Amino acid sequence: MKINLSFLTILLFALTACGEAETTAKKSVATTDAPNVQIKTMPSGPSNTAEVMRGRGVFKEHCQVCHGEKAIGQVANWREPLADGKYPAPPLDGTGHAWHHPEATLLQTINKGGMAIGGTMPAFKDKLSAKDKRAVLSYIESLWPTKTYQMWLQRNKGH
Ligand code: HEC
Repeated sequence: MKINLSFLTILLFALTACGEAETTAKKSVATTDAPNVQIKTMPSGPSNTAEVMRGRGVFKEHCQVCHGEKAIGQVANWREPLADGKYPAPPLDGTGHAWHHPEATLLQTINKGGMAIGGTMPAFKDKLSAKDKRAVLSYIESLWPTKTYQMWLQRNKGH
């Protein structure tokens, strides 16, 4: 009986604590409602500053070694194969070909890399989270001149 009683006390205490935590959580959501809504509806892409900043970090860590600082590329002429017959990493800053592709294609290249088709880019499918891939795409898009980005949007509407 004694054991049961103390068990009940603990149970009651736990329930009360939970109830309190819930009330506090609800309160804090209510007071920060407006800014939360704003963050949630911020569209993905080059105008999403937080995403672009995250993407810049991802790019520096995983992509810059080949695609160059700010994705300007590795060599002056990226259309010419290197001595080993492989193509150099192309620029992704809007001067190359990347902006001709819809986002799904760019994401596929990031996931699969180029090795399967005789290239040298490694696959990032399991190396980056979906959030990091989204962020690096936004960063790359942020490097394109506004006109290029507008043209790309027009070409790839809904893709
Ligand atoms: C080891 C070098 C290397 C690394 C690291 C690398 N890439 Fe690449 N990337 C290439 C090469 C080379 C190509 C051209 C295809 C090929 O030969 O594999 C390419 C192609 C691409 C393309 C297609 C460009 C186009 O014009 O269609 C995209 C997009 C791209 N890379 C994004 C990335 C991103 C994002 C990262 C980092 C997460 C990354 N790459 C890391 C070498 C690299």
